[in-house]
Formats: sequence, structure tokens, C-alpha cells
Amino acid sequence: MPGEKTVKRKAEHLDMCVREDVETGSNGFSDVTLVHRSLPELELKKIDTSTSLLGKKLSLPLVISGMTGGVEQARKVNRDLAAAAQERGIAFGVGSQRAMIERPELKETYYVRDVAPDILLFGNMGITQIAKYEPARVRKMLEDTGANALCVHLNPAQEVFQTEGDWDFTGTLPALRKLCRELRYPVIGKEVGHGISRETAKQLKQAGVAAIDVGGSGGTNWAYIEAKRAGTDLGEFKHHGIPTAAAVLECRKVGLPIIATGGIRSGLEIAKAIALGATCAGMALPFLRAQASGGKQMAIRLVDRMQEELGRAMFLAGCRNIRELSKADHVIKGDLYAWASQRKLV
Ligand SMILES: Cc1cc2nc3c(=O)[nH]c(=O)nc-3n(C[C@H](O)[C@H](O)[C@H](O)COP(=O)(O)O)c2cc1C
Repeated sequence: MPGEKTVKRKAEHLDMCVREDVETGSNGFSDVTLVHRSLPELELKKIDTSTSLLGKKLSLPLVISGMTGGVEQARKVNRDLAAAAQERGIAFGVGSQRAMIERPELKETYYVRDVAPDILLFGNMGITQIAKYEPARVRKMLEDTGANALCVHLNPAQEVFQTEGDWDFTGTLPALRKLCRELRYPVIGKEVGHGISRETAKQLKQAGVAAIDVGGSGGTNWAYIEAKRAGTDLGEFKHHGIPTAAAVLECRKVGLPIIATGGIRSGLEIAKAIALGATCAGMALPFLRAQASGGKQMAIRLVDRMQEELGRAMFLAGCRNIRELSKADHVIKGDLYAWASQRKLV
């Protein structure tokens, strides 16, 4: 198994995320309003929420974001969530595969293809790890997982507040460029809760990524989790980061598919994310908690709730499909408007 410390940390993370308050701030979507249509000329049941991401069809624009693997508890979490994704036709990602690349026998804590043969499946690796492994080794890891693409997570805020964290991010951009060139799988640049800026999005595009998961603030906060574990106070850093809605605006003109993750908790927020320019939304914590409370069935229920709310939001905005939703009239106000205008994003 991975080192004692890693196992303990992963188990602590899962436990804290299920039981404790690990979210901070606002994701910015309360500052977005979809303009209401009183004559939608639509039938609710005929609204089409399907879309595609990286060439795969999804029944709604939703990804269950990568969370876990490498420890025993992870096996069931991954299998339940992947099976729910299979039943409902959405995408799913496993958590960091650092443990598996070192110990290939840990594959079974990540392996879900037997219960989810058709889903869009993402592998996962940290940006500070990719410099340490040849692309061929990462490719083998993805082949063994049956993944369709690799999420490379960018988590400097988590690392910097972790006592045992990786505090050296030099050389990561050239390593990412090399990986994108040689991997032969699409790479997704993925933040985990502090948001991707326009500047970072351009760097990612130049490096050759195929999509961006903006991982904005307003949901699970990894700096907060690590500070709690270390018994320290984050102070004002508790609200550091780019709220998810702002991060979508930051990245939308870069010309890559955008996944809006970070505090997304309703189908209405998914609809707003699409209207702002996202291709899909991503959710992690609510799926972990659903799985903890009732396995695959509760995860399926959560997907169904998201689909129902998304359909209603589309109906009220007069949009019959996701293409129309991506052009839906909306108003941006408050802090999000201040952000967008100072950054010249609107
Ligand atoms: C328990 C847990 C473990 C996570 N582990 C990873 C990981 O290994 N790799 C990664 O890219 N993101 C990881 N994340 C981040 C999520 O994919 C997501 O970006 C973040 O939690 C924000 O979404 P949320 O607010 O819906 O939880 C993890 C999240 C949770 C809750």
C-alpha cells in the first residue's frame, strides 16, 4: 500500500469531507440571473439536456469530479459513483492516481470499467507529479484504468497549506507541455477549488490541454481542509481564490471546453454555468456525501434531481436544448459584475 502517512491522509480527507464543514464562500452564481420567459413555447418533457464532451455524448452536462482511490475505502466510493454515472449517462473521474502509478496493484481501488463500460472516464494526476514520470508510464496507468482522458490537477493552495505539502512548482509547465505532446490521451487542466484565471487558461492552452476544469472557489476548500488538519487558522486566505462563476468568465474566450466545478449544488447553477460559457458542470462533495448516505442509489437520485432542476431552468429560460442554453439571456450583477468589468470579461 502507499506510505502510512498517505493512507492516513486520504482516509482523513474522506472522513472530514463527509462529516465536517469543508466549504467556504460563494461560487458567484447568486449574482447571475437567467432572464425569465413567460411564453416559452416549449413542453417541459421534450427539453433535451444532452450534450457532448471530448467527443462523448452525455445525457446532461455533468461530471462527477475525481475524488479518491489508492485506499480500501475508495474502492466502493469509486464503483458506486461510476455505476451511477453509467446508469444516467454522465461523466466520472477517479481521484489522484499517484498511489497507483507507484503501486500498480492498487489499480482495483480505481478500476470501474466493469461497472461502467461506456462512461466518459477521467484519470487523475497532480501537476507536481507529472514531472516525475515519463509520459509512457502515465499512459500505461490510463490504459490500465480504461480512462478516456487525464485530469492534471493544479492545487498550489492545497499544497502550500499542507505541512507535508509540495512547495516547489518549478518546472511544471514544461512537464505539462511534454505530457500533452506525448501522452496520446486528451489532458484536462483542473483546479480543485481556487479557480483558473484567464492567464492560467492561456498557459494551459499553449501547453496543449484539450479542456479546462475551472475548479473555482465557493465549494470544497482544500486550503481550509489542510489548515484544519494541521490545527492552524487560514485567516483571510479562507476566502482566497476565484469564485467558480468568475472563473468560467475568465476562461470562456480561450476556446477550449470548460467544466465548471466548485460549489455547484443545483440544476439551476448548472444552467447558469452553461449560459456563462461552460460546456459542462462538475460536482464532487455532494456525490461523496450521497454515496456515504446510500451508495449508488443515492448518487443516482442526486443526478436525477440535477436533471430535473436543469430541465426546469431551461424551460423557464425558453431553451429547448443545451445549445440554446449556452446563448440564453442572462444578467450579471453585484460582486461578479465588479469582477467581470475590472477584468474586462464582459
Ligand atoms: C474527498 C475529495 C477528494 C478529492 N480528491 C481530488 C483528487 O484526488 N484530484 C482532484 O483533481 N480533485 C480532487 N478533489 C476536488 C474535486 O474534484 C473538486 O474539484 C472540488 O471538490 C470542488 O468541487 P465541489 O465543491 O463540488 O466539491 C477532491 C474533492 C473531494 C471532496
